[in-house]
Amino acid sequence: MTRSSRIVPASLKSKIMSAEDAASLIHNGAVVGMSGFTGSGYPKEVPLALAAQIEQQHAQGEPFRVKIWSGASTGPELDGALAKADGIDFRLPYNSDPIARKKINAGEMNYFDMHLSQVAPLAWQGFLGHLDTAVIEISGFTPEGNLIPSSSVGNNKTWLDQADKIILEVNRWQSEALDGMHDIYYGTDLPPNRVPIPLVKPDDRIGQAHFKVDPSKIVAIVETDTPDRNAPFAEPDDTAEAIAGHLLEFLKHEVKVGRLPASMLPLQSGVGNVTNAVLSGLLDSPFENMTAFTEVIQDGMLDLLDAGKLRMASATAFSLSPDAAHKFNADAQRYRDKLILRPQEISNHPELIRRLGCVAMNGLIEADIFGNVNSTHVMGSRIQNGIGGSGDFARNAYLSIFMTPSTAKNGKISAIVPMASHVDHISQDVQVIVTEQGLADLRGLAPKQKAALIIEKCSHPDYRDALHDYFARAQHSSFGQHAPNILSEALSWHQRYVETGSMA
Ligand code: COA
Repeated sequence: MTRSSRIVPASLKSKIMSAEDAASLIHNGAVVGMSGFTGSGYPKEVPLALAAQIEQQHAQGEPFRVKIWSGASTGPELDGALAKADGIDFRLPYNSDPIARKKINAGEMNYFDMHLSQVAPLAWQGFLGHLDTAVIEISGFTPEGNLIPSSSVGNNKTWLDQADKIILEVNRWQSEALDGMHDIYYGTDLPPNRVPIPLVKPDDRIGQAHFKVDPSKIVAIVETDTPDRNAPFAEPDDTAEAIAGHLLEFLKHEVKVGRLPASMLPLQSGVGNVTNAVLSGLLDSPFENMTAFTEVIQDGMLDLLDAGKLRMASATAFSLSPDAAHKFNADAQRYRDKLILRPQEISNHPELIRRLGCVAMNGLIEADIFGNVNSTHVMGSRIQNGIGGSGDFARNAYLSIFMTPSTAKNGKISAIVPMASHVDHISQDVQVIVTEQGLADLRGLAPKQKAALIIEKCSHPDYRDALHDYFARAQHSSFGQHAPNILSEALSWHQRYVETGSMA
């Protein structure tokens, strides 16, 4: 019988302890590198125990807050519990937890929203400060004492290498068949010693299956059996289906005119319900033998693999619904050869995205009539989640597509506005915008041409006349006529919403 990978090596057995004892090794003010990416592979018990200890300290009038670095978003047991305990002083690089979001938007928590590919390089460059402790979920140990990653890789390699102390959570809920699915590349270096990354196809394996670790840094091992967060996806509604329909027609046209191969180029699909609906739409598309070079593997990707439409997918994490996670865990062996999980500095690497020619498909909050995209800040000031990997992909993709319903909050907000209240993706990085109303192909167009097309194809009829009117007047009164705007009016739609609860 083969040895179970869950067995802690004899040399580390003395480090097994309760989550409470492990959490007590984290001190006030510590910088903690947590595993975790879009609700998968994050530590579940140590952060909860830490939150309880922080609450106790606060009850005694003692200060206790930590700085949290992660891969991306995590789960309620981590960001939610620590934010609720008022225990997070600083957080990077991405958050989707509602309690943490509220704290950030109330000005009670510092948040550094950044490109996900840049987190590990910035840490190595020393720009982020010193990492005290890494808390990393793994799915097991190899007989040699290397670490078998769990359902996300994120920045774990960097946290394990950089932290003074390491706390491991060994999670038996994670499938043992994950072993062999990961590709951990150790070839990154800092300038002037940086060399090209030897990956030329999404299916290339360029690293090793396991994390190396210095055993002398491991201070605690906690055994757990807790599922990933795995939020369900909404069933695609009419709006999502219409967006997917426009996009699929466009992709078919691109193949027909020879600008895309029949198997597509490697797909990147962003987070959210709409992007997942597009993946579902690809099930009925004529495209075969597709690949994905992306950030997360959602339900739609597993469905495409099952249908034989997708040949393989490379990502840094899973982002599955509970049903899809169950399906995966029950049959992980079968998916193993078709999926590769990499560090996020590789899954989102600009050089690789440019070389492979990814088709990037991401959600947006608002776009302005010239094609500048806001992915992060509602009314220019309230953060929703963060830029995530959308900038890594959009700037470097072969084709950069953004999609959204044309209105938000029951029609009270237009997703197409005269001027974006915050810009994450400049118009040069935005080639196609799709709403349920239609698709605007902005490639090769000047700003005024883009404006006419975006208003006509993408805006909701309730706001279209007002946008036409604004743009027409701007063409008479603007300071310049390259991208005409009326500065005193450009953000008045947002101001109206803030004051009245509606842009209309
Ligand atoms: N004004 C105010 N709120 C808006 C809005 C707007 N213009 N557009 C969207 N929202 C709100 C929605 O109302 C919804 O709020 P709720 O959760 O309170 O209901 C929320 O934002 C999510 O919007 P939804 O329409 O459900 O879309 P989504 O799940 O596809 O998410 C983004 C859209 C932009 C928030 C999401 O794609 C994102 O976080 N993007 C940035 C990161 C990224 O692109 N990562 C992928 C890279 S690999």
